[in-house]
Amino acid sequence: MVSLKLEDLTIGYDKPVVSDIDLELRSPALVQVMGPNGAGKTTLLKTIIGVLKPLKGKIFVNNDDITGDPEKAGRYISYVPQIATYILGNVFPITVREFIEFEAKVYARRTRSRVDVDKVVDEILEIVEIPKELWSKGIDKLSGGQRQRLLIARALIADAPIIAMDEPLSAVDVEGKALLSNTLGKLKERNRIVIITCHDPELLINYTDYIMLIGNNTYVFGKPDEVLQPHILAKFYRSSFIEFEKHIHICDFHL
Ligand SMILES: Nc1ncnc2c1ncn2[C@@H]1O[C@H](COP(=O)(O)OP(=O)(O)OP(=O)(O)O)[C@@H](O)[C@H]1O
Ligand SMILES: [Mg+2]
Repeated sequence: MVSLKLEDLTIGYDKPVVSDIDLELRSPALVQVMGPNGAGKTTLLKTIIGVLKPLKGKIFVNNDDITGDPEKAGRYISYVPQIATYILGNVFPITVREFIEFEAKVYARRTRSRVDVDKVVDEILEIVEIPKELWSKGIDKLSGGQRQRLLIARALIADAPIIAMDEPLSAVDVEGKALLSNTLGKLKERNRIVIITCHDPELLINYTDYIMLIGNNTYVFGKPDEVLQPHILAKFYRSSFIEFEKHIHICDFHL
């Protein structure tokens, strides 16, 4: 079991973006962080992984204080950055398999652990469901959704108990979103805490334990049916929130 505790946390830069966050998560749990563009989703994830110092408060994993310490946070948390069309593959010629193999070797060296690299690489590429025929192809040949899977694969190497992913579904087409949602949802089955920023709560709804809705320097946290209420969503999304009977649709102007 792993726990992540945000205690009296105010995140932001020269001024607060979200203030006074207090919550505790215990594995297994999948949390969707929602909110309009500029609400503070990326800021929250960067603060949790220690690359941004909070303006106030503390972050604990299993009672270990990791606040503002990326090296310590990195022992517990893997991070998948917000990419859209991440530059992967345009930079250096490398195959899918080599990319993950390289990361696994770096991880093994850094942690001085014995890793059966070939086995780990096979397992991870299978978990993220990148088709086998692509493993020997250059990563520049991958689609946006496949690149996203590759970044998720990289984050799985450390087998960290917490995975924070910033909009992993944003660069993926409609069919790919449904498929990748299942892959992401299953990540929590390994007794992990999975934190995902997302614009469409429905995609992962079957796997979602909690929703954190942020915006206007405040937040709401709770079970999906507690948070996904028209009057709450309307407050955070204003005019971009439309309710179609039972289906919730949030206009996503994200590029
Ligand atoms: N490095 C920075 N310095 C100062 N302000 C920043 C910095 N990065 C982001 N901000 C501001 O902090 C607020 C939150 O930004 P953040 O990127 O966390 O939003 P987001 O919810 O991830 O948005 P999006 O949906 O567009 O990804 C915005 O007002 C943004 O302009
Ligand atoms: Mg963001």
